[in-house]
Order: sequence, then structure tokens, then C-alpha cells
Amino acid sequence: MIAMDNLLIVRPVLMLLLCTAHIVSAQTISEDIESLLSQMTLEEKLGQLSMRYVPEVNEDILDEIRTGRVGAIINGKNSFYSLNDHNRMQQAAVDRSRLEIPLIFGHDVIHGYETIFPINLAQSCSWSPTLVKEAAEIAAAEASTAGVDWAFAPMIDVSRDPRWGRIAESYGEDPLLNSLFGAVVIQGYQGDSLSPSSRLAACMKHYLGYGAAEGGRDYQYTELSERSIREIYLPPFEAGVEAGVASVMSAFNDISGVPATANSQMINGLLRGVIGFEGVVLSDWDAVVQLADHGVAQDEVEAAQLAITAGVDMEMKSTSYFQLQSLVERGVLDIATIDNAVRRMLKLKIDKGLFQAPFAKPHKEENRESGLAKAKELASASMVLLQNEEAVLPIGDNMQSIALVGPYADEQNLMGWWSSLGNANQVVTARAGLQKRLSGDVSLTDKITDDTDLIIVCVGEPFSWFGENNNRAAITLPGEQEGMIQDLNKEYDIPIVTVVFNGRPLDLSGIVDHTDGLLLAWHPGTSAGDALADVLIGNYNPSGHLTTTFPRAIGQVPIYYAQRPSGRASQISYKDLDIEALFPFGYGLSYTSFEYGQVEVDTTDVSLTGSVALSVTLSNTGDMNGDDVVQVYYSNLVRGITRPVRQLIAFQKVEVPAHGSRRISFDIELEDLRYFDQDLIRQPPVGTVHFYVGSDALADKVVSYSIE
Ligand code: BGC
Repeated sequence: MIAMDNLLIVRPVLMLLLCTAHIVSAQTISEDIESLLSQMTLEEKLGQLSMRYVPEVNEDILDEIRTGRVGAIINGKNSFYSLNDHNRMQQAAVDRSRLEIPLIFGHDVIHGYETIFPINLAQSCSWSPTLVKEAAEIAAAEASTAGVDWAFAPMIDVSRDPRWGRIAESYGEDPLLNSLFGAVVIQGYQGDSLSPSSRLAACMKHYLGYGAAEGGRDYQYTELSERSIREIYLPPFEAGVEAGVASVMSAFNDISGVPATANSQMINGLLRGVIGFEGVVLSDWDAVVQLADHGVAQDEVEAAQLAITAGVDMEMKSTSYFQLQSLVERGVLDIATIDNAVRRMLKLKIDKGLFQAPFAKPHKEENRESGLAKAKELASASMVLLQNEEAVLPIGDNMQSIALVGPYADEQNLMGWWSSLGNANQVVTARAGLQKRLSGDVSLTDKITDDTDLIIVCVGEPFSWFGENNNRAAITLPGEQEGMIQDLNKEYDIPIVTVVFNGRPLDLSGIVDHTDGLLLAWHPGTSAGDALADVLIGNYNPSGHLTTTFPRAIGQVPIYYAQRPSGRASQISYKDLDIEALFPFGYGLSYTSFEYGQVEVDTTDVSLTGSVALSVTLSNTGDMNGDDVVQVYYSNLVRGITRPVRQLIAFQKVEVPAHGSRRISFDIELEDLRYFDQDLIRQPPVGTVHFYVGSDALADKVVSYSIE
């Protein structure tokens, strides 16, 4: 075996790329790529398009790497490589393969690597792009120390079905929020350049419409109209391309009869042609060979042919792309299709700096304290206060004896799905967090006694009940938890605060009348209990707002705020249930209260600036400093097509001191109000635009602007 020191010796072929490293112009990169391409055999080309899952690093895989049959490795699922194993594989590629092309290592860095942040859906409830970006930067720094080059995130599938387990990985039901948070995660991972060792190449997923699985059943068929693609599912991917994302993952789902991984119209047409994406498209896990299971390919050869011609450059896990060799040799497949895919892969490796620095180096133990502090801040900011009767929270000085009960009071696995190297033993429980923060003369017990002043009951969903293929047909609290809260309320005349550790929007209608306080904590990650305690005792005034609608019952699904109007809207009803959601999109309380003044619109400069200026005064009418999320929705009824009754167009999270007020201004770009006409051509807004301002999707301060 070659000693580690020798790993850094620069080999001749690498010199080619290394020499040009300091004058990396598009032209030199492309010359380097062409030079490599011209030396490659067809098998080596197909090797560059092959991402392997390696449960165990053994001679078989090292041999394959040496022969140039492996382009990338997926690190994860059940295999996390030691630095040594990582570098053994890389060494086989750069020291022992004919062309010395480095491997690229990918991993699901979804909401943290070692320091686990709240699940992504929770993160979006912070309405803080700054915090979400900082979390991504920390995750990238941690993952890259372990040799990860490429993160399979952000997931920006607009998700409107709480039954679907992967709603937890998304940024909620709204296209704008998925666009915005997706873009900041891409920036947080990639920075200005992919090459520094603390950066990761991002991969936005799952392209396209994966969140629209019928019945919330993961992997299920999706029926998507061209209009819903353009208006709802595509915009986050457009924003990701604008943010410079390095790669895209094609989805598992069938899009109206053509599976995403074989969908040339979506990949070559929309993604590359219309949006102008130039990076790598990677298939999802086995999604290429599964085209046969979809019934669109008769065997793996045809599956591979469909995927590569649809624009999928790299195949994850399965190895059907090697079968393309015979198709090229028989003249059935144009070699140019393969060459273009290889070019994109080589470009990604060059951009990531792998030709200069292929090996993972032992890093000094990072200072994890600042990461944990950020995880706590984001977790507190993500929590949503849904109910606070009689101002039961924050815990007051009169609360001398607190009973902390329920199945999640001592739970450590609060890291959610995809928690990488997160260690549940390091997670701060609700009890540990509260114990640390409550003053010495307050007793915190797990029993309710005659002295108990406050019951805090911790309930939730286990991490394995949401995430990939963890769908639910009912969305109430699992098991006996709902009954438990009802019984506590019946049995004791003591205020109750319910804390919910959830991974999806839940039907909480069975508990809202039985609890005074209701706080959504989600799965908050490593700093769970610390963040929760800060919120409960009022060190942190809750500022989270929902990014998905919370239904009253599963029968209301699909339910989302941006519905289309109806000819008979006022007649739409259920015989057996209210039509309104239990908690609307955008909703969230604070320990203080806010009041909105009249919204004013200034249109004097519109023709000059192309934007409409809105302003509103936000007053804090309570005794505590607090943050509100000021949300602006608009509606614009236009000729010939229906448009959502409301659409989020802007927001600001602002702090207002107790009894103070602030003037908040927005410049709404007219260009952002464009719509797709009947032929799906983008048109400028026409007629009257109504703007609604407030702290949830039912905002009632309205102002109108008429476009001449
Ligand atoms: C998931 C992807 C993930 C991949 C690799 C698939 O099952 O759908 O989101 O990136 O596995 O772990």
C-alpha cells in the first residue's frame, strides 16, 4: 500500500489540469475536458457515468475503480467510510487507473452532518433564509471534513400532502418558499466556488413533481398538468439554476405517463432547454433500472437508453449504463450523447477541485460549539406556537412545580429522517434542556401531584414515521397520545402545555380543546431540549410560522392556501366538517401581540422602477420584544385563466420592541407578478392587483393597484 504522504504526489495527467488551475478560464477547462475525452475508451466513458454504492471497500470495487469503471461513490445509507477507506478508493482512481481521473463522493447531507439541525420543513417555519444558509454552511464544512464532495440536497419538491413522509424534507407547500430556501441552501453548500475544501456541490431534487404522489404514497404516480408544472413545481428548480446549482437529481415518479428519469421533455426540454441548466443530472437510487418496473422499458438496456437520451448523465447505484456500449457499437445510440454526459461529469470534478485535491485529509476536530449554538438558534426559530390560552406560556414565576410527562419528555431520537452522523446520544432531551434552565427553586418532575402548577406533555411521531416511504393514512398523533391529553385535561384542573415533536402537518383537532398551550417543536435536531427550554421559559420569544396548512381532518387533503377560485366558492362545504383549515399557512403566535396599520401603496415610480412600493406600520402591542413574519400575498384575476386566490409574493421577519412600532416597506417587482396565459406563455400582470398584508395567509389588510 502506498503511504499517505505519497498520496499527494502529482501525476502526469493531473499536471495538465493542475497547471491550468490558476488560469481557469472556460476555454482552458473545456480544452482539458476534450483532451481527457479524446483519450477515453467507451468503457471508461461509461465508468464516469457510474455512481456506486459500496457497502464494503474490498478488492472487487478497488479493481473496478482501477479499470476506470467507477466515476462516483455514494457514501451513506449503511456505509460511512473511514478516511482510510475513502482514500484507498480515491487512490485506486488517481494512482492506479489509466487516466487518473478522481472519484467524486456524494452523500445525503440533508439537515446537518454531525450537528443535526431541525428537519427542513421546520427550518422553513423560521422564515429566516439567513439562519437556513448558515446551517447549510456548517453542514458543508462538517461533511467535507469526512471527504464528502457532493450533497444530495436541497430537496425542493413543493409538498402539499401531509400523508407523504417526505414532506418533512421540503420547505413546505409554497413555490416561493421552496425557491428561496433551496437557493440559500445551494449558496450555503457551494459558496462562490465549489473548490474550497469546506464546500459541497449541491444537487437539487427530485426533478420533477415528486411531492405530488397520489394519495401521499411515496413513489406513486403523479398527474401533473403543464400549468401546474410551470406554476407550482418548476419555479424552485428555476431558482436553483439561477443560484448556480451544480447538479439535479431526477425523480422516481411517473409524470403523467412518462417517468421523470426517462422524461426527455422535462430534462432536455424544460430543464436544459428552457431554464438553461448546464450541470449534471443524476438519477435517483436505481431509478434507471426501475424504468422497466414502470413498464416503459422492456429490460435494463432499454431503460439505460431511455434515461441517457432523456438527459440523465449519471446512474446512481444500478449499473445498466454499461450496457450502452453495445448500443453505441451497433450504431443505435449516438456517442455524442454519452460524450456530453461525460463532459458534464468531468466539469463537475474540475469545478470541485478534485484534480488538484482528490484526497480527504485528516482535519483537526472542528469546534462544534458554534455549530451547536446555531442549531439551537435555528431550532428555537423553527418552533411554532399554535395556541396560548390565558398566556400559559412562557413559564412564569408562579410555576414552582412542573410535571413534564408524555412519551417524548425523555426521547433522544429527535433528529428526524436523514441524520447522517448525528448521534442520538448527544441530543438534549426536553427534560435535560428544561432542567438546565429552570431556576433552582422550581421542581421538575415526571409525576403530577397536588402541588403541580403546570403540566407539560411531550408527544409526537417517531423519526421512522416520516421521511422516505414513511407515509401515513391517518395524520393524528400516533397511538394513545391524543387520548392521553384528553384524559389529563379531564382529570386535572391544572394548565396543560402540549409540545409536539412532529415531522409533518398533523391533525391536531382532537387536542386543541384539551390543552392551553400548543407548541410545535418538530424534530429539532441535536440541540432539541436546549432550544425548546429557551422557548418555554421565554428566553426566546416564539417567531415560527407554518409553511404548510394544518388540516382539521385527513379528509380535507389536498388543502393549501393558494387554491383556485370557484364559480361557487361560497357553496363549497362538507356535510360533516368545517371547510376551513385548523391552522392556516403562515400562522404562528408570539408571547407578545402585533397590530397592523393600513397598507399603503406608492405607485408613482412604477414605470421607472418596475416595482410597486408597499408599506405598513407594525405595532407590538404587548410587553415583550418580539419578531413577526410580515407576509405579503397578492391576487391578480386575469383574462382567460384562473389564478390562485392568493399567492405569497414577499415577506420580512422583523423584530419590534415591546410597545414599539416599525414601518415595514416592500418593493414588489412587477416582473414577479407575471403569469402564464392559456398557451403557457409568460405575460405581464394586467388589471387590478390586490395585495394582502398580515401574519398569515388570511391576512386582511388589503390595498389595490391598477395596471393601466
Ligand atoms: C432518495 C434520494 C436520495 C438517494 C440516495 C433515494 O432513495 O429518494 O433522495 O438522495 O436515495 O440516498
